[in-house]
Amino acid sequence: MSAPPDNNRAAWLQGPSAHCSAEPVKVARAWRLVLLGAPGVGKGTQAELLTDCLGACHLSTGDVFRAAGKQRACDQSPAMRAAFEYMRRGELVPDATVWEMVRERSTCIVGCGGFILDGFPRTIAQAESLKGLMEQKRILLSGVVNYELSVDEIVSRLSGRRTCEKCKSVFHVTERPPKVDGVCDRCQGKLLQREDDRPEAIAVRLEAYQRSTAPLIRFYKELGVLLPISAKGSPDEIFDRTMASLSQIEVRSQVR
Ligand code: AP5
Repeated sequence: MSAPPDNNRAAWLQGPSAHCSAEPVKVARAWRLVLLGAPGVGKGTQAELLTDCLGACHLSTGDVFRAAGKQRACDQSPAMRAAFEYMRRGELVPDATVWEMVRERSTCIVGCGGFILDGFPRTIAQAESLKGLMEQKRILLSGVVNYELSVDEIVSRLSGRRTCEKCKSVFHVTERPPKVDGVCDRCQGKLLQREDDRPEAIAVRLEAYQRSTAPLIRFYKELGVLLPISAKGSPDEIFDRTMASLSQIEVRSQVR
């Protein structure tokens, strides 16, 4: 395991015609992980820590939709404009739009450095699509980490979250504050509150999670790749728990 070079993830965030600032490093063991869990449970925070440690690329579908939402209206495709509206309301973006966007970026998924998928898949249909792609490319999922936390703690994490507008690093006003108020520790970008962290959007997101995403727990359990992890405690404690769990399944991460 080695620290990856800083990567702006341009090919993922902007699409396949953009080039990442760092090429993926070919590693002896490429980790291919899915992070599951309710909105605000800490998937993005853990994805950052895991990326630094495992060298795999952090692929968040929410980050792609937010990046598209920041483009000028004339540069946005109708599908991306619609996706951004779903997101603002806290609803799930339709499967067809999500899959089209992920499929376009499939080189990020099959890349030699591995991946940490954060926010995808979110429905059974999306999970089936990912499974089909990975079977076709003959790559294996190393594991699916399912972070578990009470609703009260989730709501508190979401309402205090601040995200860097440039590099997307995630902070929390009390639990994970930046060194300088409102400024990203990593790239000095401005820290903003997400539009879907408003209370009414949070309620819609939690309901969408229960209805559409929670069934994935059973889906991956039946595939024998589910790793349930308590998301209580500090980010470092959760990270240590995750690494301990991953150390027991290393053999499954190998390419066939
Ligand atoms: P997305 O961006 O994926 O959001 P999400 O799944 O709702 O998850 P979050 O990013 O809100 O939370 P997180 O679990 O990453 O927590 P974080 O680490 O930030 O999706 C947004 C929207 O896009 C969706 O609602 C949907 O509309 C659309 N979308 C995206 N993908 C889609 C798909 N596949 N299909 C359909 N629609 C899709 O942590 C939260 C806060 O808690 C932070 O402030 C953090 O600093 C703090 N924190 C983290 N860990 C701890 C800790 N241990 N203790 C205390 N505080 C902590």
